[in-house]
Formats: sequence, structure tokens, C-alpha cells
Amino acid sequence: MPAIVLVGAQWGDEGKGKATDLMGPDVDYVVKFNGGNNAGHTIVIDGEKYALHLLPSGILTPTCTPVIGNGVVIDLEVLFREIDGLEARGVSTDKLVVSANAHIIAPYNRTLDRVTERFLGSRKIGTTGRGIGPTYADKMSRNGIRVQDLFDHHILEQKVEAALALKNQILTKIYNRRAISVTEVMDELLPYAARLAPMVADTTRVLERALDEGKNVLLEAGQATLLDVDHGTYPYVTSSSATAGGACTGSGIPPTRITRVIAILKAYTTRVGEGPFPTELFDADGEFLRTTGFEFGTTTGRPRRCGWLDTVIGRYATRINGVTDFVITKLDVLTGLDTVPICVAYDVDGVRHDEMPVNQSDFHHAKPVYEELAGWSEDLSDVRRFEDLPAAAQAYVLRVEELIGARVSAIGVGPGREQIISRHPLLD
Ligand code: IMP
Repeated sequence: MPAIVLVGAQWGDEGKGKATDLMGPDVDYVVKFNGGNNAGHTIVIDGEKYALHLLPSGILTPTCTPVIGNGVVIDLEVLFREIDGLEARGVSTDKLVVSANAHIIAPYNRTLDRVTERFLGSRKIGTTGRGIGPTYADKMSRNGIRVQDLFDHHILEQKVEAALALKNQILTKIYNRRAISVTEVMDELLPYAARLAPMVADTTRVLERALDEGKNVLLEAGQATLLDVDHGTYPYVTSSSATAGGACTGSGIPPTRITRVIAILKAYTTRVGEGPFPTELFDADGEFLRTTGFEFGTTTGRPRRCGWLDTVIGRYATRINGVTDFVITKLDVLTGLDTVPICVAYDVDGVRHDEMPVNQSDFHHAKPVYEELAGWSEDLSDVRRFEDLPAAAQAYVLRVEELIGARVSAIGVGPGREQIISRHPLLD
């Protein structure tokens, strides 16, 4: 019966795995509904690290059916590399279901992503270079390639031809690159068709049936609220809908079936790529967060930009996603600080803003207004009950809860699966 949405509250890399770990084997289906291999989650199970970029996290739970929804863009080479990598480590991927309507990242879109960024120079977005933006642009322009096209050689050829007629003009005339031939693209995509075929289904029906049977369906967002193409810090965003609304369009599950929206909020803030970031730190504190929190991208290895927790963003995430529960991650990283600053509002040219400014330009020069909370020095890694947290850490969580306007149901205190404090169950 219940469909649960899981989103990131900030700019990504909040650690959604913490929430999925907590729900564990009770989740029957995990659906990826947006993005592609620009995402990256590292999951640690029994001390073994798994870095996934495209496959939904549920792939590691034998009882769970992982679903790649229609809202996803798929790089077939990456898909099969991840499948082969997991199979080699004894993880079965037999249950994976892929939407026939998901879009394929064609090789020319990877090329275009990279050359466009280079062309933009200082105005670049700082994309992951995986072809995500150009593939979503094709989808909206109605010249994209979908999974189902792979099974009709003739249609695929027509579509690739139509796309390349334009792309090659851009590649050769604007970017001075070589043209890509239809055969090259067909040769890259077609060999995957036979392996992909048994996984492909009308995932909207698969999920409807699952919900009718009373299964727990988790819709897991890639990226996060402020990277959402509509609600994020445009244009420094990804090209898909990473908020709760996107869970419906990207999966075909109607809004009326969603019962809970869980948002993950890191106890501080990070961001990769370009774009505004009011609480960003350029000093030793920023370095402390980066080193202690090991803030380096799973997908690109880039050092993440780091800053204090911003509860204006937290409140915004609550509003845009209709958050019912927050999971705070990496609280342990803040251990050892004398005081812990929380951004509660912005100062924009002398005017206080308690909510996200309407205009992006205001957000670009928003100065954080901080509240300083007492720090703690005790090790949190073995704490499993809220009452056992140091008083200052408890006070920190309660103040954050008050500021973001939704309850904090769980708190991460270390990278391990079991290093979590549960205050309220995430599943009914
Ligand atoms: P794209 O998704 O590759 O087009 O990149 C657009 C923006 O989203 C860039 O700033 C990326 O760094 C950012 N981004 C994409 N995926 C993630 C993610 O999983 N975590 C954090 N940032 C991301």
C-alpha cells in the first residue's frame, strides 16, 4: 500500500543510504525515478564498500526489487558495468526491472556535455560530464532515444539519424569536433539490447501491482532539492526533478499513493560543482568538515565544497517536498567543535530573509545569520539511543528540528549500517 519518497534536502550527497539501511529488508521495491549515473552512493555492508552510480541501492538487498523508472536516463555501458561488478562479488541482479520509457544516454550526449562545459569556461555548471543534461534536453525536445527503441532496429536508426543531423552541425561547426556516424552510435547501443530485453517492463504497472498487494515501495531521488531543475539554484542544477513531485512523474505512481516523504539532511552542508552556497567555508573549519566527513565525490572524486548547516534550506526542503520525516546524517562529524554554528536566516543587503529569497541574485549574495550552539567532545559512534547522546548534541538536533519544521526521525552517527539512532520508525 504505502509509497514512500526519499529525497535529499540540500545539494546532494546527504547520505540517503542511512535511511534505506534503516528500512532494510522491509522495503520490497526501490525505485530510481530521476537522474542517471551522475549520482553516486557508497554503501558499506559488513565492512565491504559498494559504490553505485546508476543502480538503485535496493539492488544489494536480496528481497528487494530494484526498479529504474521512466524518469531516469541510462548509460548502458555503466549499467552493465555495475551489474557485472556486483555479480562478480556474488550479488544477484536478477530482479532488476527497467522502464521501457527511460531514456538512453547516447554517446553524442556525453561528448556534448563535456565540450559545452569547456566552451562555457568560467560560466560552466560544473556538471559530472556524464551526458545527463543533453539527454534530458533531447527528451524535452522530443528527439531522445528510449529503452524501447533498442528493440526496433529501424526506429532506432531513424531516431539516431534525426538526432545526429543536428548534433553533428553543433559538434563540427561550433565546437570544431569530428562528426559522429549513425553506425558508431548503433554499434555502441545495439549489442546491449539482448541483455537488456528481459529486464524491460511497463514499470508503472509493476509498481501499481506492488502497491495493490500492500508492498512497501521506496521512491529514491537522485541528487537533491536544491539541484532540482525547477526548485533548485537554477541554472546550477541537474536537469531532472529531484524533489518529491518528480517521484510521481518519474515513476508513474500517482501522488495519492504517497504516504510519507523522508528527507535526508546532512548535519552540515556540501556542494559539488558551481553555484551559490551561502554558508560555504573557505577556512580551516571548511577543511575540517571536508577531512573529517571525507567529502570527496563518489562519481567524480572532486573535493566537495563544505559549510555549516543552513536551516533556511532545510525549511525550504520541508515546504517543497512536504517532508514528514527528516534523517540527519553525519552528526558525528561535528564532534570536537567548541561551538556549532547553524544558519537560521540570511542577510541580503541589510534585509533579513527567513525564507529562500525569491530572486536568485539575492541568494548569490546572501550572508548567513548564525546561531551558535554549544559543541560536544564525546565520541558518538556507539550511541544508539537519542537519550544517550551528549546533552549538547541532543540540543543541536532539537533546535534543528524546530527550525526546519518537521520531525527528525533518525540520526546517523557513523558510516556503518548500524551507526544510526532511530527516534520514530520510517515505515508505518
Ligand atoms: P549534471 O547532473 O551532471 O548535469 O550536473 C549538474 C550539477 O549537479 C553539478 O553541479 C553537479 O555537480 C551536480 N550533481 C549531479 N549529481 C550529483 C550528486 O549525486 N550529488 C551532488 N551533486 C550532483
